Amino acid sequence: PLPPLTPDFLSVLNRVCEQCYYLFQAPDDLENGVRELILQDLESFVRRQFAGARLQLFGSSKNGFGFRQSDLDICMVLEGKETMDDVDCINIIKGLARQLKKHPGLRNILPITTAKVPIVKFYHLRTGLEGDISLYNTLALHNTRLLASYAAIDRRVKILCYIMKVFAKMCDIGDASRGSLSSYAYTLMVLFFLQQRNPPVIPVLQEIYGGETKPEVLVDGWNVYFFDDLKTLPCHWPLYGQNTESVGELWLGLLRFYTEDFDFREHVVCIRQHTRLTTFNKQWTSKYIVIEDPFDLNHNLGAGLSRRMTNFIMKAFINGRRVFGTPMKGLPPEY
Ligand code: GTP
Ligand code: MG
Repeated sequence: PLPPLTPDFLSVLNRVCEQCYYLFQAPDDLENGVRELILQDLESFVRRQFAGARLQLFGSSKNGFGFRQSDLDICMVLEGKETMDDVDCINIIKGLARQLKKHPGLRNILPITTAKVPIVKFYHLRTGLEGDISLYNTLALHNTRLLASYAAIDRRVKILCYIMKVFAKMCDIGDASRGSLSSYAYTLMVLFFLQQRNPPVIPVLQEIYGGETKPEVLVDGWNVYFFDDLKTLPCHWPLYGQNTESVGELWLGLLRFYTEDFDFREHVVCIRQHTRLTTFNKQWTSKYIVIEDPFDLNHNLGAGLSRRMTNFIMKAFINGRRVFGTPMKGLPPEY
């Protein structure tokens, strides 16, 4: 049992959280402009080889949780072509890599054709940004929009997602290419916590609709509908504005939630419905951390975790809960 949290302590914790956000938050308009310029330059370059190529940014360049050095996630489609099979995809990725190698402003071009989503990685010399281009990653464009909508509902959403990403990077548990979880997975964990909080900080946008049944907007066979008319959200969600906790309280609440309350063995981290979904329902009982993608319901973001990595991640949360939840003897002098 930890000592009780005094109002003074909570106020310091809250300021630390706000500070973290101000230090790490990036894309101001200038930063966004630079990203758009790189995108346009790449698009016109790629079009020399692939007429009708269209490039679009997604991920943290667009979802509201970007750092100054976040990578450029780019999706490419060919105009007039609705879908593409895996073989064509891999061939285009290889052709794209050959083409990008001729670009004077890029280095370290690396096609990765064995991944679930084939990509070409690159490094942009002048900005020092890394990026990758994937093909027909249409669901990612939609989940980027979903995340951006949640970020726009309440500033605490944005701050907590930043803190979570900083925490994950610092604890070395935030790199999916090295066997841990992606930033995207941690963002889903934050959103789930905020939906499950009592009273909730955010609604389940995929469960809000006017009529009797949920509208259907199919992309790659999945329903990507969600409520996005945020101006009218207060009329559709009676709990709007009911949660008044500070960011500091919520951050500690989140660490407690995932170390004390949430039963990973029993439940799925699932942001598309408010009722708890069980690992048994999903037949996903062989993994401890189970995070369901909000649109691609067959995709468990924790599927690639080894038992060792799972333990490592849980330990980081337990340590975080102890460190952030232990009042110091005396406050640091600058406070
Ligand atoms: P940073 O790059 O760390 O700032 O965060 P990010 O939000 O851009 O996340 P990341 O680069 O890990 O992922 C980019 C986007 O890919 C996400 O925002 C999702 O839209 C999409 N995505 C969909 N499924 C997956 C998945 O299984 N793994 C990852 N990494 N990304 C996914
Ligand atoms: Mg990214």
